[in-house]
Amino acid sequence: MSSDPIIVTGGAGFIGSNFVLDWVSAGLGSLINFDKLTYAGNLRNLDALRDNDTHTFVRGDVGDSASVTQLLQQYRPRAVLHFAAESHVDRSIHGPEDFVATNVTGTFRLLEAARGYWSALPEPEKGAFRFLHVSTDEVFGSLQMDEAPFTEESRFAPNSPYAASKASADHLVRAYHHTYGLPVVTVNCSNNYGPFQFPEKLIPLIILNAVEGKPLPVYGDGLNVRDWLYVKDHCSAIRAVLERGRTGETYNVGGNSERANIDVVKRICAIIDELRPQPGKPSRDTQIRYVTDRPGHDRRYAIDANKIERELGWKPSVTFEEGIRSTVLWYLNNQEWIEGVRTGDYRNWLELNYVSR
Ligand code: NAD
Ligand code: TYD
Repeated sequence: MSSDPIIVTGGAGFIGSNFVLDWVSAGLGSLINFDKLTYAGNLRNLDALRDNDTHTFVRGDVGDSASVTQLLQQYRPRAVLHFAAESHVDRSIHGPEDFVATNVTGTFRLLEAARGYWSALPEPEKGAFRFLHVSTDEVFGSLQMDEAPFTEESRFAPNSPYAASKASADHLVRAYHHTYGLPVVTVNCSNNYGPFQFPEKLIPLIILNAVEGKPLPVYGDGLNVRDWLYVKDHCSAIRAVLERGRTGETYNVGGNSERANIDVVKRICAIIDELRPQPGKPSRDTQIRYVTDRPGHDRRYAIDANKIERELGWKPSVTFEEGIRSTVLWYLNNQEWIEGVRTGDYRNWLELNYVSR
């Protein structure tokens, strides 16, 4: 294994921080974490690494060409793993501009900087370099209930501003390989869940509201279907693609766990009823409230993950049953993290923990 570091963008977010924690605890080498710390970035996710000098945090914006160029020159990475994005569909409906700025322009600027850095590398570093782009199954649009799952050949048909911005980024990544030869690999993954997910997304939102006796908002008829992947399995897929993926290829990553939203919500309620019983009170599922649907709400996502299993031997190791139970437990046991998010205190963490230390 090369001793050169990897650079991770967006490593203070949900998936990025899980990836960083797993990478460092497995002793896979030094890692530079480049993150803008938007509302979704939370350095408390990385508390366990506070005294670990294989992890270096650098605050910055992927759309800032001078910063990313300087970052690459300073740290001379063997790979750039691009997680940073605006990631929430509902926010993209209310304010799409940030999604274009980070997901499209930001990815473009990062690609440009990576191209400049990579093209000046000597061999064998040049041949070994990788740009790994983390994308989503939402670029493929929506499936009917009886349609076959998305494959890597499925047509792009993004429906939300979020999905369109990610699809644009995927196209740019592809073009940088085709035109300039930049050694890229892309993963298109289904819905992730697990520790450190910001409670604007379905699963953590439902867990927190269920525990606190608040309404559980279910959009539309609750029958929209998502494929759910435990975040640690996504991280292992990314490591497999980084080390063994073929350049210029895309890999679909899924959890073999399609569920209707209402079933996910009811399952969470049942687990909380079991773990935090309230004798004499009704089940938390009485808190479910059907609310107005999301505009343009995709009906179903499903992933055919045969390619990554066939070529790289990867498949998910955690069932939805196991993953959802341990996720509920994690939120029940991490009240301090939740309070930090709730109060906004986590946003002062950089000053508190890093600048004034
Ligand atoms: P997240 O919103 O939790 O975290 C995003 C991180 O990126 C945050 O730390 C934020 O501070 C950082 N960031 C945002 N804009 C930035 C910028 N301009 N420069 C530098 N950093 C910036 O997102 P997530 O759920 O961890 O998703 C990570 C990646 O995985 C995204 O690219 C997303 O599209 C993709 N993805 C997510 C899911 C999912 O279910 N969450 C599924 C498939 C793919
Ligand atoms: P979300 O976690 O936002 O992920 P995505 O939109 O990227 O799939 O939503 C997952 C599903 O849950 C989606 O079909 C929308 C639905 N949903 C609700 O029903 N209620 C909610 O409060 C939220 C946030 C999502």
